[in-house]
Amino acid sequence: MWAGESVGVEGQVMNVLQTNKESGAGTLPVAPGRFDSIEYSEQFLTVAGWMFSPGRALDTFRLKVNGAQIGEEVVPEAREGVQKKFGVPEALNSGFRMRAVAPEKTFRNWAEVEVCGRVGGQDIGQISMLYRPDYQAALVEAPAELRFRVTGSRNSIGVYWLAGLQTFGKFYRAITRYGGPDPVNRLLDWGCGCGRVTGVLLKYLTGVEVHGCDIDREAVEWCAANFPTGHFTAVAPHPPTTYADNTFNVVTGCSVLTHLRRELQFDWLKEMNRIIAPGGLLLVSVHGDFAAASFNNRPEVKTEVETVGISDRTPDHILDGIAPDSYYRGTFQSKAYTCQEFARYFEVIDYIELGMGNLQDLVVMKKA
Ligand SMILES: C[S@@+](CC[C@H](N)C(=O)[O-])C[C@H]1O[C@@H](n2cnc3c(N)ncnc32)[C@H](O)[C@@H]1O
Repeated sequence: MWAGESVGVEGQVMNVLQTNKESGAGTLPVAPGRFDSIEYSEQFLTVAGWMFSPGRALDTFRLKVNGAQIGEEVVPEAREGVQKKFGVPEALNSGFRMRAVAPEKTFRNWAEVEVCGRVGGQDIGQISMLYRPDYQAALVEAPAELRFRVTGSRNSIGVYWLAGLQTFGKFYRAITRYGGPDPVNRLLDWGCGCGRVTGVLLKYLTGVEVHGCDIDREAVEWCAANFPTGHFTAVAPHPPTTYADNTFNVVTGCSVLTHLRRELQFDWLKEMNRIIAPGGLLLVSVHGDFAAASFNNRPEVKTEVETVGISDRTPDHILDGIAPDSYYRGTFQSKAYTCQEFARYFEVIDYIELGMGNLQDLVVMKKA
């Protein structure tokens, strides 16, 4: 159970967050980037991934654990695929690969791993995540087809799990920061898919009743069979759900609104407001301004986001046969639009650009 700062998570996440607050870590803007792998073995931490800073070429990277640098700075490696995806020159030299000694006691539990991109000896952007070396032991491998439906890629199970862990950390940070004094006892992972994030929430949040729901019945049934301590429900594509009023203290939704058209977002925000208890949190990701601008094969998306605030006309066929025809989209929206429109349903208490990882922004909302 959470009770303010005394967080009931297995392990010592809270200590890590407090250490970071003191060291000033996590105050840099989040840069576009991703961890491809993180491993800790025989006192060596090895991380690989990519990161760039829009408009500025990075000249070095440095690696930090719980706010303190370990190892030497390294120069960026070329990543042609990243440059092709984003279409800007500064995305070419964006690769990092670092290996450094880290004391064993640091990794007995949770640690914040952070990579900072530097220009002229100054940190100008970062990506970070909560990590513990044994986390994979807690997870169950979902079938490849179900994983494909939630990620749209055939990435390795390691990349898939790491992304789930990263998302867990982002939600966890927001809950501990904004959760308020009331204990969190019931959480819903809305759009849980095959449990990439729900599985981590179930493993590491102690004393919290964790629920998951999705419109993909097969994924929900797989979760129910493989996560016996969770509570899973298939929901209809349109609200209402069967949950009673004021059921949850927290609802998380990673990459759900990113697929819903404008009116449907409103319908679901209204439903979330009904099922979240007063003072409860809604934590959701959206494709914000950076994602819209990066969609370089469809420049009209960026134009529409800049002029109208939202672009919801890009079809996404990955749920064909599962979601109703033309239900599932690629939806992009400006920060200004999101903060203004979502405020009709919730108090928007934070908006963290790229704060969800995977190029998505994190919107933190509270029910009055
Ligand atoms: C991109 S996937 C993300 C899944 C999961 N949150 C994760 O991060 O692994 C989006 C999920 O939202 C589900 N979904 C879409 N619309 C939904 C809705 N209105 N209610 C519940 N789930 C929905 C999809 O079926 C899919 O599983």
